[in-house]
Amino acid sequence: MRTLLACFLGAATVFTAAQARPPVHMTAAQDHALLMRMLRIRALRPGADPNPGAKNPPNYDESKAGGADLPDALTMADGRRVTTAAMWWRERRPQIAAAFDRDVYGRVPRHTPRVDWIVVSRKRETQYGIPVVTEQLRGQVDNSAYPLIAVNIEMTLTTPADARGPVPAMIHLGFDPAQMARFLAQMRARGIKLPPPPPGPSWQQQLLEHGWGYAVLVPTSVQADSGAGLTEGIIGLCNHGQPRRPDQWGALRAWAWGASRALDYLQSDPAINAHEVGIEGLSRYGKAALVAMAYDQRFAIGLIGSSGAGGAKPFRRNFGEQAGNLAGTGEYQWMAGNFLLYDGPRTVNDLPVDSNELIAMCAPRPIFISTGSPKVEGGWIDDRGMFLAAVAAGPVYRLLGGEGLGSDVMPPLGTALLDVDIGWRQHEGGHTDLPNWPAFLEFAARHLKPAAAAR
Ligand code: GCU
Repeated sequence: MRTLLACFLGAATVFTAAQARPPVHMTAAQDHALLMRMLRIRALRPGADPNPGAKNPPNYDESKAGGADLPDALTMADGRRVTTAAMWWRERRPQIAAAFDRDVYGRVPRHTPRVDWIVVSRKRETQYGIPVVTEQLRGQVDNSAYPLIAVNIEMTLTTPADARGPVPAMIHLGFDPAQMARFLAQMRARGIKLPPPPPGPSWQQQLLEHGWGYAVLVPTSVQADSGAGLTEGIIGLCNHGQPRRPDQWGALRAWAWGASRALDYLQSDPAINAHEVGIEGLSRYGKAALVAMAYDQRFAIGLIGSSGAGGAKPFRRNFGEQAGNLAGTGEYQWMAGNFLLYDGPRTVNDLPVDSNELIAMCAPRPIFISTGSPKVEGGWIDDRGMFLAAVAAGPVYRLLGGEGLGSDVMPPLGTALLDVDIGWRQHEGGHTDLPNWPAFLEFAARHLKPAAAAR
Protein backbone atom coordinates (compact mmCIF):
# COMPACT_ATOMS: atom_id res chain seq x y z
CA MET A 1 0.00 0.00 0.00
CA ARG A 2 2.78 2.35 1.01
CA THR A 3 4.60 1.63 -2.26
CA LEU A 4 1.43 2.13 -4.21
CA LEU A 5 0.79 5.47 -2.53
CA ALA A 6 4.40 6.53 -3.15
CA CYS A 7 4.04 5.59 -6.81
CA PHE A 8 0.81 7.50 -7.02
CA LEU A 9 2.30 10.60 -5.35
CA GLY A 10 5.42 10.36 -7.50
CA ALA A 11 3.31 10.02 -10.61
CA ALA A 12 1.16 12.94 -9.51
CA THR A 13 4.20 15.18 -9.14
CA VAL A 14 5.57 14.21 -12.54
CA PHE A 15 2.11 14.66 -13.99
CA THR A 16 1.90 18.25 -12.67
CA ALA A 17 5.32 19.27 -13.93
CA ALA A 18 4.82 17.58 -17.29
CA GLN A 19 1.42 19.22 -17.75
CA ALA A 20 2.61 22.71 -16.84
CA ARG A 21 2.75 24.86 -19.93
CA PRO A 22 6.28 26.18 -20.42
CA PRO A 23 6.77 29.91 -19.92
CA VAL A 24 6.00 32.02 -22.97
CA HIS A 25 9.06 33.75 -24.43
CA MET A 26 8.62 37.08 -26.14
CA THR A 27 10.76 40.06 -26.89
CA ALA A 28 9.81 43.30 -25.17
CA ALA A 29 8.44 44.55 -28.51
CA GLN A 30 6.23 41.43 -28.90
CA ASP A 31 4.94 41.63 -25.34
CA HIS A 32 4.29 45.36 -25.73
CA ALA A 33 2.38 44.72 -28.97
CA LEU A 34 0.31 42.02 -27.26
CA LEU A 35 -0.51 44.44 -24.45
CA MET A 36 -1.60 47.05 -26.99
CA ARG A 37 -3.94 44.48 -28.56
CA MET A 38 -5.38 43.57 -25.16
CA LEU A 39 -6.00 47.27 -24.50
CA ARG A 40 -7.30 47.82 -28.05
CA ILE A 41 -4.87 50.68 -28.57
CA ARG A 42 -3.46 51.27 -32.04
CA ALA A 43 -0.90 53.97 -31.33
CA LEU A 44 0.82 55.72 -28.46
CA ARG A 45 2.14 59.24 -28.36
CA PRO A 46 5.92 59.16 -28.45
CA GLY A 47 7.78 60.27 -25.36
CA ALA A 48 10.26 63.12 -25.22
CA ASP A 49 13.43 62.35 -27.14
CA PRO A 50 16.53 63.77 -25.45
CA ASN A 51 18.85 62.94 -28.35
CA PRO A 52 20.38 65.99 -30.04
CA GLY A 53 18.34 67.19 -33.03
CA ALA A 54 15.28 65.06 -32.12
CA LYS A 55 11.86 65.99 -33.57
CA ASN A 56 10.22 65.70 -30.18
CA PRO A 57 12.70 67.14 -27.67
CA PRO A 58 11.83 67.35 -23.97
CA ASN A 59 10.36 70.62 -22.80
CA TYR A 60 12.59 72.50 -20.39
CA ASP A 61 10.65 75.76 -20.44
CA GLU A 62 8.91 76.22 -17.10
CA SER A 63 6.27 78.50 -18.63
CA LYS A 64 5.10 75.62 -20.85
CA ALA A 65 5.25 72.88 -18.22
CA GLY A 66 1.65 73.15 -16.96
CA GLY A 67 0.58 70.51 -14.49
CA ALA A 68 -0.27 73.00 -11.77
CA ASP A 69 -3.57 71.25 -11.07
CA LEU A 70 -2.50 68.15 -9.25
CA PRO A 71 -5.40 66.07 -7.94
CA ASP A 72 -6.28 66.98 -4.38
CA ALA A 73 -5.24 64.15 -2.09
CA LEU A 74 -7.91 65.20 0.41
CA THR A 75 -10.89 65.13 -1.93
CA MET A 76 -12.68 61.82 -2.39
CA ALA A 77 -13.53 60.69 -5.92
CA ASP A 78 -17.17 61.67 -5.23
CA GLY A 79 -16.13 65.18 -4.21
CA ARG A 80 -16.41 64.82 -0.42
CA ARG A 81 -13.65 66.53 1.61
CA VAL A 82 -11.45 64.39 3.80
CA THR A 83 -11.55 66.17 7.14
CA THR A 84 -10.32 63.64 9.67
CA ALA A 85 -7.38 61.27 9.99
CA ALA A 86 -9.86 58.39 10.32
CA MET A 87 -11.44 59.29 7.00
CA TRP A 88 -7.98 59.41 5.39
CA TRP A 89 -7.04 55.95 6.68
CA ARG A 90 -10.41 54.28 6.13
CA GLU A 91 -11.61 55.82 2.91
CA ARG A 92 -9.27 58.09 1.00
CA ARG A 93 -5.94 56.30 1.29
CA PRO A 94 -7.42 52.95 0.10
CA GLN A 95 -9.11 54.82 -2.76
CA ILE A 96 -5.80 56.36 -3.85
CA ALA A 97 -4.00 53.02 -3.52
CA ALA A 98 -6.66 51.31 -5.62
CA ALA A 99 -6.26 53.93 -8.36
CA PHE A 100 -2.47 53.52 -8.40
CA ASP A 101 -3.01 49.76 -8.51
CA ARG A 102 -5.41 49.85 -11.42
CA ASP A 103 -3.92 52.53 -13.62
CA VAL A 104 -0.31 53.17 -12.70
CA TYR A 105 1.72 50.43 -11.02
CA GLY A 106 -0.58 47.41 -11.33
CA ARG A 107 -2.12 45.02 -8.83
CA VAL A 108 -0.13 42.56 -6.80
CA PRO A 109 -1.85 39.14 -6.92
CA ARG A 110 -4.03 38.40 -3.91
CA HIS A 111 -1.79 35.47 -3.01
CA THR A 112 1.92 35.78 -3.60
CA PRO A 113 4.18 32.82 -2.83
CA ARG A 114 6.04 32.45 0.43
CA VAL A 115 9.70 33.49 0.61
CA ASP A 116 12.15 31.51 2.74
CA TRP A 117 15.34 33.38 3.54
CA ILE A 118 18.46 31.23 3.57
CA VAL A 119 21.74 32.44 5.03
CA VAL A 120 24.19 31.40 2.31
CA SER A 121 27.21 32.65 4.21
CA ARG A 122 27.93 34.65 7.33
CA LYS A 123 31.24 36.20 8.24
CA ARG A 124 32.74 38.65 10.68
CA GLU A 125 34.90 41.18 8.94
CA THR A 126 36.03 44.78 9.20
CA GLN A 127 34.60 47.47 6.94
CA TYR A 128 36.01 50.98 7.10
CA GLY A 129 37.69 50.03 10.36
CA ILE A 130 34.39 48.93 11.91
CA PRO A 131 33.80 45.29 12.92
CA VAL A 132 30.71 44.00 11.12
CA VAL A 133 28.83 40.83 10.39
CA THR A 134 28.03 40.30 6.71
CA GLU A 135 25.43 37.81 5.56
CA GLN A 136 24.83 36.69 2.00
CA LEU A 137 21.14 35.88 1.82
CA ARG A 138 18.91 34.15 -0.66
CA GLY A 139 15.16 34.57 -0.57
CA GLN A 140 13.84 31.37 -2.09
CA VAL A 141 10.40 31.98 -3.50
CA ASP A 142 8.07 28.99 -3.23
CA ASN A 143 7.56 27.85 -6.82
CA SER A 144 5.72 24.61 -6.10
CA ALA A 145 2.69 25.94 -8.00
CA TYR A 146 4.82 26.42 -11.13
CA PRO A 147 8.22 24.74 -10.83
CA LEU A 148 9.35 25.87 -14.29
CA ILE A 149 10.21 29.31 -12.94
CA ALA A 150 12.63 29.76 -10.04
CA VAL A 151 12.98 33.08 -8.24
CA ASN A 152 15.83 33.56 -5.77
CA ILE A 153 16.09 37.00 -4.25
CA GLU A 154 19.66 38.16 -3.67
CA MET A 155 20.55 40.31 -0.71
CA THR A 156 23.61 41.11 1.39
CA LEU A 157 23.15 42.36 4.94
CA THR A 158 25.86 44.09 6.94
CA THR A 159 25.39 45.00 10.59
CA PRO A 160 27.82 46.46 13.14
CA ALA A 161 29.22 43.53 15.15
CA ASP A 162 29.66 45.35 18.45
CA ALA A 163 26.39 47.29 18.71
CA ARG A 164 24.88 47.52 22.19
CA GLY A 165 21.38 46.85 20.94
CA PRO A 166 19.32 46.51 17.78
CA VAL A 167 20.40 49.01 15.11
CA PRO A 168 18.48 50.93 12.46
CA ALA A 169 19.13 49.76 8.91
CA MET A 170 18.66 50.91 5.33
CA ILE A 171 17.73 48.68 2.43
CA HIS A 172 19.52 49.90 -0.71
CA LEU A 173 18.12 48.85 -4.08
CA GLY A 174 21.22 48.03 -6.10
CA PHE A 175 21.84 47.90 -9.83
CA ASP A 176 23.22 44.56 -11.00
CA PRO A 177 26.37 44.78 -13.15
CA ALA A 178 24.70 43.88 -16.49
CA GLN A 179 21.93 46.40 -15.87
CA MET A 180 24.52 49.03 -14.95
CA ALA A 181 26.42 48.37 -18.19
CA ARG A 182 23.19 48.81 -20.22
CA PHE A 183 22.38 52.00 -18.35
CA LEU A 184 25.85 53.46 -18.95
CA ALA A 185 25.62 52.61 -22.67
CA GLN A 186 22.22 54.35 -22.83
CA MET A 187 23.64 57.45 -21.15
CA ARG A 188 26.66 57.46 -23.49
CA ALA A 189 24.35 57.19 -26.51
CA ARG A 190 22.51 60.27 -25.26
CA GLY A 191 25.76 62.12 -24.79
CA ILE A 192 25.25 62.28 -21.01
CA LYS A 193 28.48 62.08 -19.07
CA LEU A 194 28.10 60.54 -15.65
CA PRO A 195 30.19 62.25 -13.02
CA PRO A 196 32.89 60.30 -11.21
CA PRO A 197 31.79 59.38 -7.69
CA PRO A 198 32.16 62.43 -5.48
CA PRO A 199 35.05 62.36 -3.02
CA GLY A 200 34.32 61.38 0.56
CA PRO A 201 33.05 58.31 2.34
CA SER A 202 30.70 55.87 0.62
CA TRP A 203 27.11 55.68 1.87
CA GLN A 204 27.93 52.31 3.44
CA GLN A 205 30.74 53.86 5.47
CA GLN A 206 28.51 56.75 6.53
CA LEU A 207 25.79 54.40 7.72
CA LEU A 208 28.17 52.19 9.67
CA GLU A 209 29.84 55.22 11.25
CA HIS A 210 26.40 56.38 12.42
CA GLY A 211 25.73 52.96 13.93
CA TRP A 212 23.40 51.74 11.21
CA GLY A 213 23.34 48.47 9.32
CA TYR A 214 22.65 48.22 5.63
CA ALA A 215 21.30 45.70 3.15
CA VAL A 216 21.88 45.65 -0.59
CA LEU A 217 18.93 44.08 -2.37
CA VAL A 218 19.18 43.18 -6.06
CA PRO A 219 15.74 44.02 -7.49
CA THR A 220 16.43 42.27 -10.80
CA SER A 221 16.66 38.98 -8.90
CA VAL A 222 12.96 39.56 -8.13
CA GLN A 223 11.92 40.79 -11.56
CA ALA A 224 13.96 41.50 -14.69
CA ASP A 225 14.20 45.11 -15.84
CA SER A 226 12.83 44.30 -19.28
CA GLY A 227 9.52 43.66 -20.97
CA ALA A 228 11.00 40.40 -22.26
CA GLY A 229 11.19 39.21 -18.64
CA LEU A 230 7.54 39.72 -17.72
CA THR A 231 6.69 36.05 -18.18
CA GLU A 232 9.45 35.19 -15.73
CA GLY A 233 10.55 36.47 -12.33
CA ILE A 234 7.93 36.92 -9.63
CA ILE A 235 5.37 38.32 -12.10
CA GLY A 236 5.85 35.35 -14.45
CA LEU A 237 5.82 32.86 -11.59
CA CYS A 238 2.47 34.18 -10.33
CA ASN A 239 1.12 33.99 -13.91
CA HIS A 240 2.52 30.49 -14.46
CA GLY A 241 4.70 31.78 -17.28
CA GLN A 242 1.84 33.40 -19.21
CA PRO A 243 1.71 37.06 -20.39
CA ARG A 244 0.68 39.71 -17.92
CA ARG A 245 -2.83 41.18 -18.02
CA PRO A 246 -3.18 44.98 -18.23
CA ASP A 247 -4.16 45.45 -14.59
CA GLN A 248 -1.37 43.32 -13.18
CA TRP A 249 1.76 44.56 -11.44
CA GLY A 250 4.77 45.90 -13.26
CA ALA A 251 8.40 45.79 -12.21
CA LEU A 252 8.22 48.81 -9.86
CA ARG A 253 5.55 47.12 -7.80
CA ALA A 254 7.39 43.78 -8.03
CA TRP A 255 10.63 45.38 -6.86
CA ALA A 256 8.71 47.03 -4.02
CA TRP A 257 7.24 43.62 -3.13
CA GLY A 258 10.79 42.23 -3.04
CA ALA A 259 11.79 45.10 -0.74
CA SER A 260 8.92 44.16 1.58
CA ARG A 261 10.16 40.56 1.66
CA ALA A 262 13.64 41.88 2.48
CA LEU A 263 12.04 43.91 5.26
CA ASP A 264 10.39 40.72 6.58
CA TYR A 265 13.85 39.25 6.98
CA LEU A 266 15.36 42.35 8.56
CA GLN A 267 12.46 42.56 11.00
CA SER A 268 13.13 38.98 12.07
CA ASP A 269 16.82 39.69 12.76
CA PRO A 270 17.45 40.54 16.42
CA ALA A 271 20.47 42.69 15.42
CA ILE A 272 18.07 45.14 13.74
CA ASN A 273 15.48 47.49 15.19
CA ALA A 274 12.35 46.33 13.36
CA HIS A 275 10.81 49.81 13.64
CA GLU A 276 13.76 51.64 12.13
CA VAL A 277 14.24 50.11 8.72
CA GLY A 278 14.36 52.49 5.79
CA ILE A 279 14.60 52.17 2.04
CA GLU A 280 16.73 53.99 -0.52
CA GLY A 281 17.23 53.92 -4.25
CA LEU A 282 18.27 56.10 -7.17
CA SER A 283 16.49 56.78 -10.42
CA ARG A 284 14.37 53.73 -11.39
CA TYR A 285 15.15 52.45 -7.92
CA GLY A 286 14.21 55.84 -6.48
CA LYS A 287 10.78 55.20 -8.02
CA ALA A 288 10.74 51.67 -6.58
CA ALA A 289 11.82 52.93 -3.15
CA LEU A 290 8.98 55.46 -3.16
CA VAL A 291 6.46 52.82 -4.25
CA ALA A 292 7.72 50.46 -1.53
CA MET A 293 7.49 53.16 1.12
CA ALA A 294 4.04 54.24 -0.05
CA TYR A 295 2.51 50.77 0.02
CA ASP A 296 4.28 49.16 2.98
CA GLN A 297 3.77 51.15 6.14
CA ARG A 298 6.43 49.18 7.99
CA PHE A 299 9.15 51.17 6.21
CA ALA A 300 10.07 53.82 8.76
CA ILE A 301 11.85 56.25 6.45
CA GLY A 302 12.86 56.64 2.80
CA LEU A 303 15.62 58.30 0.81
CA ILE A 304 14.25 58.79 -2.66
CA GLY A 305 17.02 59.66 -5.12
CA SER A 306 16.28 61.44 -8.43
CA SER A 307 13.17 59.34 -8.96
CA GLY A 308 11.67 61.38 -11.82
CA ALA A 309 8.79 60.06 -13.95
CA GLY A 310 6.90 57.21 -12.30
CA GLY A 311 8.41 58.41 -9.01
CA ALA A 312 7.99 61.80 -7.35
CA LYS A 313 7.64 63.77 -10.62
CA PRO A 314 4.02 64.59 -11.50
CA PHE A 315 2.77 62.79 -14.61
CA ARG A 316 0.80 65.91 -15.49
CA ARG A 317 3.86 68.14 -15.97
CA ASN A 318 5.30 68.50 -19.41
CA PHE A 319 8.91 68.92 -18.32
CA GLY A 320 11.64 66.40 -19.09
CA GLU A 321 10.57 62.77 -19.28
CA GLN A 322 6.97 62.09 -20.30
CA ALA A 323 4.33 59.35 -19.97
CA GLY A 324 5.20 58.41 -23.55
CA ASN A 325 8.66 57.36 -22.39
CA LEU A 326 7.23 55.23 -19.59
CA ALA A 327 4.73 53.68 -21.99
CA GLY A 328 7.35 52.77 -24.60
CA THR A 329 9.04 49.39 -25.05
CA GLY A 330 12.08 50.34 -22.95
CA GLU A 331 10.22 51.27 -19.76
CA TYR A 332 6.63 49.97 -19.87
CA GLN A 333 7.68 46.95 -17.82
CA TRP A 334 7.90 49.28 -14.81
CA MET A 335 4.22 50.15 -15.02
CA ALA A 336 0.82 48.47 -15.15
CA GLY A 337 -0.30 47.72 -18.72
CA ASN A 338 -3.29 50.01 -18.11
CA PHE A 339 -0.90 52.93 -17.84
CA LEU A 340 -0.55 52.80 -21.64
CA LEU A 341 -4.15 53.97 -21.91
CA TYR A 342 -3.02 57.37 -20.61
CA ASP A 343 -0.60 57.72 -23.47
CA GLY A 344 -3.18 56.68 -26.04
CA PRO A 345 -6.95 57.25 -25.88
CA ARG A 346 -6.63 59.16 -22.60
CA THR A 347 -4.05 61.68 -21.43
CA VAL A 348 -2.12 62.11 -18.20
CA ASN A 349 -4.73 64.69 -17.16
CA ASP A 350 -7.25 61.85 -17.01
CA LEU A 351 -5.19 59.92 -14.46
CA PRO A 352 -7.21 59.67 -11.25
CA VAL A 353 -4.04 60.15 -9.17
CA ASP A 354 -0.65 61.81 -9.42
CA SER A 355 2.70 61.62 -7.68
CA ASN A 356 1.73 64.00 -4.86
CA GLU A 357 -0.66 61.27 -3.73
CA LEU A 358 2.05 58.61 -3.86
CA ILE A 359 4.10 60.79 -1.51
CA ALA A 360 0.97 61.35 0.59
CA MET A 361 0.57 57.58 0.97
CA CYS A 362 3.84 57.68 2.95
CA ALA A 363 2.37 60.10 5.52
CA PRO A 364 3.04 60.57 8.36
CA ARG A 365 6.36 58.77 7.99
CA PRO A 366 9.48 60.81 7.21
CA ILE A 367 10.59 60.77 3.61
CA PHE A 368 13.55 62.58 2.06
CA ILE A 369 13.46 63.60 -1.58
CA SER A 370 16.87 64.01 -3.16
CA THR A 371 17.97 65.42 -6.51
CA GLY A 372 21.13 66.73 -8.12
CA SER A 373 21.66 70.07 -9.78
CA PRO A 374 19.52 70.60 -12.89
CA LYS A 375 22.63 72.09 -14.55
CA VAL A 376 24.64 68.93 -14.01
CA GLU A 377 22.00 66.22 -13.79
CA GLY A 378 19.78 67.78 -16.44
CA GLY A 379 16.06 68.53 -16.34
CA TRP A 380 14.89 65.04 -17.35
CA ILE A 381 13.86 64.16 -13.80
CA ASP A 382 12.02 67.49 -13.28
CA ASP A 383 13.30 68.73 -9.92
CA ARG A 384 10.74 71.49 -9.64
CA GLY A 385 7.92 69.09 -10.44
CA MET A 386 9.05 66.78 -7.66
CA PHE A 387 9.18 69.72 -5.27
CA LEU A 388 5.64 70.76 -6.27
CA ALA A 389 4.41 67.20 -5.70
CA ALA A 390 6.02 67.20 -2.26
CA VAL A 391 4.30 70.53 -1.47
CA ALA A 392 0.98 69.08 -2.60
CA ALA A 393 1.41 66.05 -0.32
CA GLY A 394 1.70 68.46 2.63
CA PRO A 395 -2.01 68.72 3.54
CA VAL A 396 -2.13 64.95 4.19
CA TYR A 397 0.92 65.14 6.49
CA ARG A 398 -0.69 68.06 8.28
CA LEU A 399 -4.01 66.26 8.63
CA LEU A 400 -2.09 63.45 10.35
CA GLY A 401 -0.38 65.86 12.74
CA GLY A 402 2.85 66.49 10.81
CA GLU A 403 4.13 69.34 8.71
CA GLY A 404 4.95 68.06 5.24
CA LEU A 405 7.63 70.06 3.52
CA GLY A 406 7.11 73.15 5.66
CA SER A 407 7.63 75.54 2.73
CA ASP A 408 6.39 76.09 -0.78
CA VAL A 409 9.51 77.90 -1.91
CA MET A 410 12.21 75.75 -3.46
CA PRO A 411 15.37 76.29 -1.42
CA PRO A 412 18.65 77.02 -3.21
CA LEU A 413 20.95 74.15 -4.20
CA GLY A 414 22.71 72.67 -1.21
CA THR A 415 20.14 73.92 1.31
CA ALA A 416 18.37 71.07 3.06
CA LEU A 417 14.92 71.01 4.62
CA LEU A 418 15.44 68.69 7.58
CA ASP A 419 13.16 69.64 10.44
CA VAL A 420 10.07 68.78 8.48
CA ASP A 421 8.74 65.33 7.70
CA ILE A 422 9.21 65.62 3.95
CA GLY A 423 12.92 66.32 3.72
CA TRP A 424 14.40 67.88 0.60
CA ARG A 425 17.81 68.70 -0.81
CA GLN A 426 19.31 69.33 -4.22
CA HIS A 427 23.03 68.71 -4.23
CA GLU A 428 25.41 70.28 -6.72
CA GLY A 429 26.31 67.14 -8.62
CA GLY A 430 24.69 64.85 -11.16
CA HIS A 431 22.64 61.67 -11.24
CA THR A 432 23.54 60.26 -7.82
CA ASP A 433 22.22 60.62 -4.29
CA LEU A 434 25.59 60.11 -2.63
CA PRO A 435 26.18 63.81 -1.81
CA ASN A 436 22.83 63.87 0.01
CA TRP A 437 23.52 60.99 2.40
CA PRO A 438 24.95 63.26 5.15
CA ALA A 439 21.80 65.40 5.05
CA PHE A 440 19.64 62.28 5.00
CA LEU A 441 21.40 60.87 8.07
CA GLU A 442 20.85 64.17 9.86
CA PHE A 443 17.18 64.06 8.82
CA ALA A 444 16.88 60.46 10.04
CA ALA A 445 18.51 61.31 13.38
CA ARG A 446 15.89 64.02 13.93
CA HIS A 447 13.00 61.74 13.06
CA LEU A 448 13.87 58.27 14.29
CA LYS A 449 14.22 59.54 17.81
CA PRO A 450 15.45 58.95 20.32
CA ALA A 451 17.04 55.55 19.86
CA ALA A 452 18.76 56.13 16.52
CA ALA A 453 19.77 59.69 17.29
CA ALA A 454 21.49 58.63 20.50
CA ARG A 455 23.80 56.17 18.81
C1 GCU B 1 16.14 56.59 -17.78
C2 GCU B 1 14.68 56.81 -17.54
C3 GCU B 1 14.39 57.36 -16.15
C4 GCU B 1 15.08 56.52 -15.12
C5 GCU B 1 16.54 56.39 -15.46
C6 GCU B 1 17.29 55.46 -14.52
O1 GCU B 1 16.80 57.82 -17.85
O2 GCU B 1 14.19 57.69 -18.50
O3 GCU B 1 13.02 57.33 -15.89
O4 GCU B 1 14.89 57.06 -13.85
O5 GCU B 1 16.68 55.83 -16.74
O6 GCU B 1 16.70 54.62 -13.87
O7 GCU B 1 18.49 55.59 -14.45
